[in-house]
Amino acid sequence: MKLFDVYPLFDVEIVRGKGCFTYDTKGTEYLDLYGGHAVIAVGHCHPHYVKCVEEQLEKLPFYSNSVINSLQSKFAERLGKINGYDDYNLFLINSGAEANENALKLASFVTGRKRVLSFGKAFHGRTSLAVEVTDNPKIVAPVNHSGNVTFVPFNDIEAVRKEISKGDVCAVIIEGIQGVGGIRIPDDEFLRQLRAECDANGVVLILDEIQSGYGRTGKFYAHQHAGIRADIVTMAKGIANGFPMGALAINPAYKPAFGMLGTTFGGNHLACAAALAVLDIFESEHLVENAASVGGHLLDELKKLPQIKEVRGRGLMIGLEFDQPVKDLRLRLLHEQHVFTGASGTNVLRLLPPLVLTRELADEFVCRLKKVL
Ligand SMILES: Cc1ncc(COP(=O)(O)O)c(C=O)c1O
Repeated sequence: MKLFDVYPLFDVEIVRGKGCFTYDTKGTEYLDLYGGHAVIAVGHCHPHYVKCVEEQLEKLPFYSNSVINSLQSKFAERLGKINGYDDYNLFLINSGAEANENALKLASFVTGRKRVLSFGKAFHGRTSLAVEVTDNPKIVAPVNHSGNVTFVPFNDIEAVRKEISKGDVCAVIIEGIQGVGGIRIPDDEFLRQLRAECDANGVVLILDEIQSGYGRTGKFYAHQHAGIRADIVTMAKGIANGFPMGALAINPAYKPAFGMLGTTFGGNHLACAAALAVLDIFESEHLVENAASVGGHLLDELKKLPQIKEVRGRGLMIGLEFDQPVKDLRLRLLHEQHVFTGASGTNVLRLLPPLVLTRELADEFVCRLKKVL
């Protein structure tokens, strides 16, 4: 068999990682400002993470959700102590798209309605509902068009009000910061108005924190910069540092019923061990605070570079917008400077480094970036 060819690949094979560095087959070292797409939170192969996963692997990697798995409740309790949602309930699954899929389904269950509002340039994943609320017609197949989704302009509260007033909306879904859409931050005031509008109309507010959450922006979730709380928060990526896992924090007013949601693999023993190890490291190495301080420093340094049209972001979720496409810049960063970066659309370079990035490594990145500008 051959691979189904859907990824435009860089001509590099990464075989090893340590902290903020990755290494290819020839032993070349790369500074990782991409974190494997915001997934590597505690750094590559953190010794505590490796130890915890190895220990669980030897004990019991998996058993089904038909028996007690106390690692799940332990994780829920630990997460609640750090994420500001101690009073919420947790449902565990395997990926970001699945988290949004379940969040939207749950919103429809609890409201009995079926229309969803999403925003221009939104990205929420590639499965049926998740892709339907994603604003990219190229990745939405005909079968995904249920007709239940309405897109409104980002940051436009009047457009939201107009749609919600029709009375058939079950949920509004919004990213804490739009990632694929170009590192676009919703205005704090807009988020507060959105919260009030959802409250006034019994609409479920879903905050997709899959990319912007888990400490990346210097608060546990990006929407916490606006001082609001969501009804459902979706998470994945950094939650288990590369072990596939996703989660929903659910408003306690939404009552569960047996069979309402379910999964074979979600919340398995190995995933929980990985996620608990991540929380240990978050606490011992103060990674949310580190993302705020190193990210703030990096943003300040990048704003001094005149070649960049606009620097956007919070903490360690940063977009650098240029007047021209960034494709060549990324290739030069990779092959000449040995730095991994991401992109959003054609003109935005996207930085999503591990949250263990130090000030020195942030400066090293700026130094390497200057050489290719
Ligand atoms: C904001 C957001 N939501 C959802 C997803 C989908 O996550 P996954 O690829 O784990 O399904 C992504 C992935 O990039 C994302 O950035």
